[in-house]
Amino acid sequence: IAAEPHGGTRHAASKSNKGPRMCSVKATDYDGPFPHFSAPTEIGRFSLDRNRKVTNDASQLKYLYRAPLEEESVAFDLSHGHKRFDERDPFNQETLDTFLEWITSMADSERQDLKTVTHSAEFISWRGALTKIASTPYENREGWRMACIRYADIIFICEFRTNTKQQQLESASYRQKLMTYWGYKFEQYMTLETADQEKPETDSAVNNFEQFCTVVRSRLGEGPGHRLLFAGETDCIDPSDNAYVELKTQRQFENKSQKNNFYRFKALKWWLQSFLVGIPRIVVGFRDDDGFVRQVRPMRVREIASNSKDHWAGAVCFNFLQSVLSLLKDRLTVNDMNAVYFLEWNPGWQNVGVKPAKKSDTRFHFLPDWFVERFSE
Ligand code: A3P
Ligand code: MG
Ligand code: MG
Repeated sequence: IAAEPHGGTRHAASKSNKGPRMCSVKATDYDGPFPHFSAPTEIGRFSLDRNRKVTNDASQLKYLYRAPLEEESVAFDLSHGHKRFDERDPFNQETLDTFLEWITSMADSERQDLKTVTHSAEFISWRGALTKIASTPYENREGWRMACIRYADIIFICEFRTNTKQQQLESASYRQKLMTYWGYKFEQYMTLETADQEKPETDSAVNNFEQFCTVVRSRLGEGPGHRLLFAGETDCIDPSDNAYVELKTQRQFENKSQKNNFYRFKALKWWLQSFLVGIPRIVVGFRDDDGFVRQVRPMRVREIASNSKDHWAGAVCFNFLQSVLSLLKDRLTVNDMNAVYFLEWNPGWQNVGVKPAKKSDTRFHFLPDWFVERFSE
């Protein structure tokens, strides 16, 4: 099959199966103005407790502890309590299940059908899948694989880790695992359970089972565009203005090239993750190599994009995402919960392609029976 590169806004969706089978990943194919992207609107929120039980509320939402932002310097030991890390099995493959549970519970409590409860979504996924796809024109290291199923006129997108990623996980060093802990430990230093709690509780075990998620809808592209519904884990809310805040750790910059590297690579992921759900601010814990946060500073999501102008353009990412979603619409033309398609990209590939998975490979049939049965006529 020949590659058929095409630009974001230049790709016309067709109802036939004759459309392109691939999208070029070349950034210059997607230059141009930012496509229409309606401000993400929060339509719901849900929480997962220690047992991953889903509740239709904000019980797990944390409040930003603002004091460290005012300090000239801090000394948060991110390794503290590492031995007691109450960690989710990293090999467990996360599907859309908890999000689908929330959708189902909404439909039950509001007595609504799937179309109403999903705001007529054409695509449903985690925010992380959109971040991965959209960053591809600038990515050269990490591949990804998304399983896609069309059911009830909705294309569900679920990421499955690539074989390479699986191998990396299996061979992760002690230091890599420790560094993963650092990110969660920082969240504990920076958040309060309730708005009136005085100081964070930093001696209890850190766990990454509990989560708070925001559910947003948005539309991408001119005309009817693509109607998206996605959920994203959200770290906390700033009580001073009720805006969601993303927390991140980052190695302190010691020279220009380190800073340059940050804006070139990591900043794009940060920007996409926050921009997709409309989060205005990231609070960054700048750490040293020993895992001590030395300074906590805010970063405006908008400024990340302007500071990265020499390296990447958000417009390219969104034009590309629009093309990929058009490609999926072209390829997945019939509802069939047993037909799984792979959307995939790996380092070195010139294109993102869609191909059907083997029917026998049931690993990727990620729509649970209880979900399908609940909404079948
Ligand atoms: P940092 O981002 O500060 O390193 P998030 O930032 O998305 O809220 O994720 C919280 C933390 O989860 C991260 O903190 C990191 O420790 C861990 N984490 C998230 N994604 C990861 C990944 N792909 N690999 C390893 N750790 C990850
Ligand atoms: Mg998070
Ligand atoms: Mg975070």
